Amino acid sequence: NKVVLAYSGGLDTSVIVRWLQDTYQCEVVTFTADIGQGEEVEPARAKAKALGVQEIYIDDLREEYVRDFVYPMFRANAIYEGEYLLGTSIARPLIAKRLIEIANETGADAISHGATGKGNDQVRFELGAYSLKPGIKVIAPWREWDLTSRETLMAYCAERNIPVDFAGKKKKSPYSMDANLLHISYEGGNLEDPFWEAEEDMWRWSVSPEAAPDTPTYIEIGYQNGDPVTLNGEALSPATMLTTLNKLGGDNGIGRLDLVENRYVGMKSRGCYETPGGTIMLRAHRAIESITLDREAAHLKDELMPRYAKLIYNGYWFSPERRMLQAAIDESQGFVNGVVRLKLYKGNVVVVGRKSDNSLFDEAIATFEDDAGAYDQKDAEGFIKLNALRLRIAANKGRSQLS
Ligand code: ARG
Ligand code: SIN
Repeated sequence: NKVVLAYSGGLDTSVIVRWLQDTYQCEVVTFTADIGQGEEVEPARAKAKALGVQEIYIDDLREEYVRDFVYPMFRANAIYEGEYLLGTSIARPLIAKRLIEIANETGADAISHGATGKGNDQVRFELGAYSLKPGIKVIAPWREWDLTSRETLMAYCAERNIPVDFAGKKKKSPYSMDANLLHISYEGGNLEDPFWEAEEDMWRWSVSPEAAPDTPTYIEIGYQNGDPVTLNGEALSPATMLTTLNKLGGDNGIGRLDLVENRYVGMKSRGCYETPGGTIMLRAHRAIESITLDREAAHLKDELMPRYAKLIYNGYWFSPERRMLQAAIDESQGFVNGVVRLKLYKGNVVVVGRKSDNSLFDEAIATFEDDAGAYDQKDAEGFIKLNALRLRIAANKGRSQLS
């Protein structure tokens, strides 16, 4: 028997390699993905080799990640609980999918991951895996072993000759962090007191709004079928687009969030997030939709959105209901083409212009000047009267709310 492990190359997942070999006497296949976490993935190869791993997968999934996961989600303007842009949530189904593909290629009958038993990530990995391969076995070491403190983990490393410098040379952050092209997240440590303000040097992707430049940066994002395709007139691949927007946003103090969210497993959790490019994309997408979408289509999207966001947060990317919603969302995007002009300034993303060949905005009708008969103001009288009919009937029957 064989198990495919989502392997970061860090200390925790290196311990998991050895633990799986010891506990299950199984062959471990490692899988390390570049999804834009900003760390080299190639070093994972030598580390895995040193642990006796024979089948080592290292993939650059950045384009697939943004094209097939981030962009579809942004077509929905998805936000969880009014704030969270789902930066970790949306990366998990891709990892789950790749784990299963590799299991199929290598003839493995199990997958394993380093998520704890208290979080959302375990749910997302495993729901994804089960929906793609119902018979797969899942091994979640954090739910099984007793290496729950730093000390027991270190003792285990000493015992099994696992080099502790696998943790890397960088100074160890006091936070549990997770990063990919969409965001970086911080949880745990001092953040577990929701009243405690994160210190400035926790943030890695953005300058503070106070320290951002005094002159604004103007950019133009071009949209096609609801996806950003050009930046200042230049065509960019999905991953390059997001990488570039992250830089522009981060330089202007954009995309920091500090929030308390409800995890699927039931607890509240405090997290800090930097989502510079995503914050820009969300504003820009809403702006291009504002001139290209029909009112009722737009409102229906807004009603479906919290539902869609919750599905992604809770790990149901590969579910029939997510696909149904996605089909409706994608159907709405056919005319979402055009250009949005934005001003990035000290933490703010300000929409300053939008244009589209598919615009529904009609100056001749909207104008406060003479509209040359495009809209007859007299029609409004009947429109209002009929809409008021039931209100007048109720008031006549003694239900007026005037006391
Ligand atoms: N709370 C966020 C979420 O559930 C971020 C999770 C971060 N994951 C991690 N392994 N540090 O999506
Ligand atoms: C974890 O528990 O592995 C991280 C937090 C989360 O998944 O929500």
